[in-house]
Amino acid sequence: MQAAAEFTMLRTKAQPPGCVTITSLPRPLMNPIDLRSDTVTRPTSAMRKAIAEAIVGDDVYGDDPTVIELERRVSALTGKEAALYVPSGTMGNQLAVHVQVRPSEEVLLEASSHIFLYEQGGIAAASGALAHIVTAERGVMLPAALTAALRGEDDHNARLSLVCVENTHNLSGGSIVPLAALQAMRAAASARGVRVHLDGARLWNAAVASGVSIAQWAACADTVMMCFSKGLGAPVGSILVGDAPTIRAARRARKRFGGSMRQVGMLAAACLYALDHHVDRLADDHARARELAAGFAAAPGVQVDAPETNIVFANLAEDIDTPALIAALRERGVWMSQYGPKRVRAICHLDVDDAGIARAIAAFHAAVAGFAKA
Ligand SMILES: Cc1ncc(COP(=O)(O)O)c(C=O)c1O
Repeated sequence: MQAAAEFTMLRTKAQPPGCVTITSLPRPLMNPIDLRSDTVTRPTSAMRKAIAEAIVGDDVYGDDPTVIELERRVSALTGKEAALYVPSGTMGNQLAVHVQVRPSEEVLLEASSHIFLYEQGGIAAASGALAHIVTAERGVMLPAALTAALRGEDDHNARLSLVCVENTHNLSGGSIVPLAALQAMRAAASARGVRVHLDGARLWNAAVASGVSIAQWAACADTVMMCFSKGLGAPVGSILVGDAPTIRAARRARKRFGGSMRQVGMLAAACLYALDHHVDRLADDHARARELAAGFAAAPGVQVDAPETNIVFANLAEDIDTPALIAALRERGVWMSQYGPKRVRAICHLDVDDAGIARAIAAFHAAVAGFAKA
């Protein structure tokens, strides 16, 4: 009721009943400290202005100047020949597999990677690819994993044609896979005619935190996918880069997958705005993640992995009930996600400031205190 009342107040007198100007969201949606993901950011006023002023055309005809400019800029930034704007990170990853792997071929994947765990087995469904899974400490796959996976030309064996790496590594707490490890994997793969795809949904965070440029990271792979709709704060969109024939093939497959969009310069304008204004500030999210981690770690029964970028994982003692903790936090206006039976995740982003971090730490301590033994 409260939400409905406040929402109705946004209606201006000039409008007919039932017509609402969404100048802002109703209070209950605005107030929470939403740490579930960095995908929850809403476009800033300045970004919305860039969206409103975007010059657009039909991108399926190749006519949208804003999309062309975004693709040109990201190819230059990554040092790759071509780029393709896509609706989501998942589509960018799936296209990368689709155009570099033939049905029945294997893809080497780390067991906790997004492509393996969170894309619904899409590489099998959409590309007929077989996932060859290896476990690797903090997502760092070594060349030995590749050589072990290559089983030779015997007719019984599927051919391994692609390695997918992820940086930053989400489930290892946004950890940065060292440049040297990626370079070694690329060298080993190239020497054996195997291609490398980098899921760089948060490569921006890796670049800002490490000082290693996007181009240096991108040089470790044949294709790279990067998201604008996570830490960079754009509402929609990711990009796939690589050599010109590969991206041409991905452009064709994107059409078949239904991912080609028309006047999508509206969205590309937000991404260009994000490139200009929201990359360097990721350092603030990283600093806040460290503060959050230190705050959470001071709660009894909680162990926290030191964050390298914007993701904080907290591991909980046996006597803390994880769903109940998430619910207790939510009652206090702090939204976090459960990852595993005794693990919760918080991600810092554009819409969480220092006051939000302080509020989240206080709520976390109060919620954990509810589980203290009498
Ligand atoms: C590492 C990683 N790769 C890919 C994706 C997929 O991005 P999207 O949600 O835009 O499909 C995500 C989403 O969180 C991610 O964390």
